Amino acid sequence: MAKIVALIMAAGSGERFSGKGPKTLFPLLGVPTVVWSARRFARHPAVDSIVVVAAPGEEERIRSTLDDHRVGKIARVATGGPTRQESVRLGLETLDADCGFVLIHDAARPCVGADLIGGVIGALSAGGAVVPVLPAVDTLVRESDGAVDAILDRVHISGVQTPQGFRAALAVSAHRSAKAKGLTSSDDGSLVFALGEKVKTIEGERTNIKITYPEDAPIAEAILRAAFAGEEA
Ligand code: CTP
Ligand code: MG
Repeated sequence: MAKIVALIMAAGSGERFSGKGPKTLFPLLGVPTVVWSARRFARHPAVDSIVVVAAPGEEERIRSTLDDHRVGKIARVATGGPTRQESVRLGLETLDADCGFVLIHDAARPCVGADLIGGVIGALSAGGAVVPVLPAVDTLVRESDGAVDAILDRVHISGVQTPQGFRAALAVSAHRSAKAKGLTSSDDGSLVFALGEKVKTIEGERTNIKITYPEDAPIAEAILRAAFAGEEA
């Protein structure tokens, strides 16, 4: 049976969050962010194993953090690179041959729900690439020199979340091809789209926020408290 592997991206430096060490180790309700993220996949019955990608030199700290919190299904902690894209590519290169599908998830989204993970996996059976999206709620403008330069049409504009699901071979070839062509993107679905492949969308979760700035931490804690009470240990 083709295995489903979660690739948890935790190799960033969190410059916008604090710039002081990996934000994925920042505690939310006393539990490190990466533990919340990895745990949701570990506890999902359809996920076979987990590869966590850590910054060079942080592998042991991430590994022991996951061990301390008894996060199951961890196959390995891989070493990331200087950009998210490079970290993902390096993580993908460590996947075993029996990996059929990969779910790429940002550790900085610790509030991801089991329903969204299941939704991505379910939609994968119909195609090789699935990304969760939410329609933009704010009016979108282009700015130039401190003034509005153009109003963008919000219709059909969506924000993209993780986890993003792919046939593993498709994710690997999209990343290898992007590297060869010098193509860069902040998400993986875009690289698959650049190959000319269909990228299916499903509805994301409003609560699946990404921790980017310090103000995001108390919001994430409120979401975690409401959704996962009792899982703090
Ligand atoms: N990430 C990664 N390798 C990198 C950069 C980012 O694995 N070289 C991961 C982060 O750990 C995070 C996710 O990609 O879980 C999304 O990135 P982002 O929110 O931008 O996190 P950081 O890059 O750490 O933050 P910043 O951009 O503010 O430095
Ligand atoms: Mg970043």
